[in-house]
Amino acid sequence: MSLFGVSLATLFLTAQGVVGRNFPFESAQLTQADARDIPAIRFGDKERAPPWDVTTPRCRAWPDSHDWPSNSEWKQLNVSLGGALLRPLPAASACYPGEGFNETTCRWLVNQSDRTHFWIDEPLSTLTQWPQGSTCPLTLNPEGSCTRGGFPKYVVNATTVKHIQAAVNFARNKNVRLVIKNTGHDFGGRSMGAGSLSIWVHNLKSFEFIPEYNVGRYSGMAVHVGAGMESWEQFNHMAANNIAVVAPGGNSVGAVGGWIAVAGHGGLTSKYGLGSDQVLAINIVTADGKFLTVDPNNHQDDLWWALRGGGPSTFGVITSVILKAYPPINVTTASLSFSVNPSLATPNTTAPPANANSLTDLTSFWGGVSLTYHYCTHIIAAGGFCYSYIYPLGNSSFSFTTSHFLPNTNFSAASALLQPLYTQLNTAHTIPVTLPTNLPSTPYAGNGRRTGASGSEAVNTRYRSRLFPSSLWRNTTQWATIFAATIRAAVEEGGYTFHGIGYSPTADVAGWPGVDSAVHPAWRDAALHGSLMEVQPLGLTAAEARKRDERVKGYVGRWQALMPGAGAYMNEGDPAEAEWQGRFFGVHYRRLVGVKRRWDPWGVFWARTTVGSEGWEVQSWDGYPMSQNGRLCRVVGEK
Ligand SMILES: Cc1cc2nc3c(=O)[nH]c(=O)nc-3n(C[C@H](O)[C@H](O)[C@H](O)COP(=O)(O)OP(=O)(O)OC[C@H]3O[C@@H](n4cnc5c(N)ncnc54)[C@H](O)[C@@H]3O)c2cc1C
Ligand SMILES: *[C@@H]1O[C@H](CO)[C@@H](O)[C@H](O)[C@H]1NC(C)=O
Ligand SMILES: *[C@@H]1O[C@H](CO)[C@@H](O)[C@H](O)[C@H]1NC(C)=O
Ligand SMILES: *[C@@H]1O[C@H](CO)[C@@H](O)[C@H](O)[C@H]1NC(C)=O
Ligand SMILES: *[C@@H]1O[C@H](CO)[C@@H](O)[C@H](O)[C@H]1NC(C)=O
Ligand SMILES: *[C@@H]1O[C@H](CO)[C@@H](O)[C@H](O)[C@H]1NC(C)=O
Ligand SMILES: *[C@@H]1O[C@H](CO)[C@@H](O)[C@H](O)[C@H]1NC(C)=O
Ligand SMILES: *[C@@H]1O[C@H](CO)[C@@H](O)[C@H](O)[C@H]1NC(C)=O
Ligand SMILES: *[C@@H]1O[C@H](CO)[C@@H](O)[C@H](O)[C@H]1NC(C)=O
Ligand SMILES: *[C@@H]1O[C@H](CO)[C@@H](O)[C@H](O)[C@H]1NC(C)=O
Repeated sequence: MSLFGVSLATLFLTAQGVVGRNFPFESAQLTQADARDIPAIRFGDKERAPPWDVTTPRCRAWPDSHDWPSNSEWKQLNVSLGGALLRPLPAASACYPGEGFNETTCRWLVNQSDRTHFWIDEPLSTLTQWPQGSTCPLTLNPEGSCTRGGFPKYVVNATTVKHIQAAVNFARNKNVRLVIKNTGHDFGGRSMGAGSLSIWVHNLKSFEFIPEYNVGRYSGMAVHVGAGMESWEQFNHMAANNIAVVAPGGNSVGAVGGWIAVAGHGGLTSKYGLGSDQVLAINIVTADGKFLTVDPNNHQDDLWWALRGGGPSTFGVITSVILKAYPPINVTTASLSFSVNPSLATPNTTAPPANANSLTDLTSFWGGVSLTYHYCTHIIAAGGFCYSYIYPLGNSSFSFTTSHFLPNTNFSAASALLQPLYTQLNTAHTIPVTLPTNLPSTPYAGNGRRTGASGSEAVNTRYRSRLFPSSLWRNTTQWATIFAATIRAAVEEGGYTFHGIGYSPTADVAGWPGVDSAVHPAWRDAALHGSLMEVQPLGLTAAEARKRDERVKGYVGRWQALMPGAGAYMNEGDPAEAEWQGRFFGVHYRRLVGVKRRWDPWGVFWARTTVGSEGWEVQSWDGYPMSQNGRLCRVVGEK
């Protein structure tokens, strides 16, 4: 009974030593005694769960209908949470007549909020807005009224494990949809849901440096990190402790949440592996409400394997992780860009002068871009990372920009590695680029800036992803053919932006225990993670959104034909990806479903394209594809 009490959980011993290195916030746990008084927060029993595919009740409870918990039940939950239950209004409600209206606040949100951390510290907001259903857009001139749309109904501002356990138990016992939000960066609406109770892990910011950590074959430095850590904060902790930790490149991305759950890339990925490869232990609240430590000695055959690569919001709520740490490391960065504007080939004295790297010949431009992607194989072989975009500018004008990151090198070695690329661009493609004569080597740690993240259309982006297998790079001729049919066609004809990130988290680089995990095997043999990016304007009709989906399928179809078995990265992939099970999880999918059914037989955790999610769908009120603005119900007639 006191198994869930503080003392036993923290002192529980095995032959390997102490299990569960808990932060103070993790020692505050829900007890059987707490649950005895409030039936709605009683723990679950996996052995007594109904069969996985039972169809009643067919839907999750819906606010204000007969199956929704009563006000007094919500009050009781709030009491058990010590008052941490929030019922926030959407931020933009300040712009609409009614509850929450405040003109000053509205003006500030419209004009200044993008330059602050506001949207990340806000309990409901997510960076990508279309899944919400556009029912409360931020504007000085509102039409209609503001409704919650795809936003959750209640939010638990979790600051203890007890909060999370009570919320999971309540959602499971009362058939309420549950969502988990950390930073809200997910591009596919996976951190929101209409009519849900949201567990907000953002405030779990604990950090501890562990000079020596031993588990299995690992012996070395480690860090213990709370689930709410953001990448910029993680960088500052690295500087303060004179260490390096693999972290997301994006400053405001969660350093633990979605990123660690399904691979996760960053500047050191070719050198030290993916986010999932760094994990040495995981503290988690599972669907039955219990708090566990999962590591190479505990639950090693299922959860330990599945939680590293098997996806977020699937097996439980992670409260903290222990990650590998490395000695401090410097990174040398070299940026390269060139563009093309064929109209400048016609002499026109009134036209603006071409900049030094602006070409007029499309063959040169695309030849140079293709070569640069091919050359990235040398950079990743040296432990480096290539980060690029190809932008269509209209009227057959395009620009290409890339940055090459080289860890642990010096100026002369970096120059020697990069110079042949510049020489070949000059000679084979007449692109007048020169290698900078000053390539600074700067510490990887310590540049963590607290950045805002806008709630604007700029991040309202749909991604389509593929992990391009290294076999495509066999030689430059073969690569040029593939490149033209896949990347060039999508940008030149399709008008999509291409985002290419070159890195190579091979099995050797991943090492132990990363190599034995649920990470899609496609990552181990990939040399490029390519995505097509498309801004999804707000306020599209469902029909317009579907038409856009159809159009992009034409281009993704060509990728499909040339790379039939290629994997894709869920976090920067398409929530409408066809056959997402194989694309995002590969051969591991079947085994992952087994783990899901064993650990969450109720289907408490649900988010689009996560393991086992095909049995449910959101019935969006207007049919907008993949919107979260609707009730979550079982898919009927299809098992
Ligand atoms: C500006 C920007 C920059 C980016 N840069 C990078 C990058 O450099 N590298 C990269 O690999 N990706 C990058 N991404 C993609 C990023 O990895 C995903 O958006 C990722 O899902 C973010 O995770 P989060 O926890 O921060 O966000 P959230 O949207 O809060 O969560 C994402 C998913 O994880 C679940 N989740 C969150 N916390 C937990 C938890 N504690 N337990 C269980 N489930 C949880 C949520 O329910 C949701 O399904 C970037 C995205 C953006 C918007
Ligand atoms: C929960 O309780 C706190 C403290 O009493 C209160 O401030 C808060 O408004 C309550 N939440 C809800 C949703 O009623
Ligand atoms: C509106 O918001 C501003 C800024 O937060 C605050 O100072 C003011 O009191 C609010 N006005 C009303 C009427 O609530
Ligand atoms: C936005 O705020 C800036 C000051 O930060 C001010 O100069 C500008 O006029 C404001 N714009 C609008 C449209 O309110
Ligand atoms: C969440 O809880 C923390 C800690 O109690 C508190 O500082 C913060 O203001 C809360 N956030 C909201 C939005 O209530
Ligand atoms: C010359 O350039 C100007 C300015 O960009 C443009 O308006 C004009 O159409 C161009 N003329 C020709 C003949 O291309
Ligand atoms: C493309 O060229 C046409 C005709 O010269 C011009 O009207 C249009 O504005 C241009 N578009 C862009 C995006 O430059
Ligand atoms: C730079 O690095 C290379 C390769 O590691 C090494 O051989 C060389 O001595 C270094 N040069 C300087 C100036 O440190
Ligand atoms: C890293 O770069 C800094 C200056 O940016 C320099 O002081 C330091 O010596 C470098 N460290 C290593 C290990 O090269
Ligand atoms: C390069 O690839 C092309 C196309 O696949 C092939 O025809 C050619 O023989 C290859 N060249 C070399 C040197 O391997």
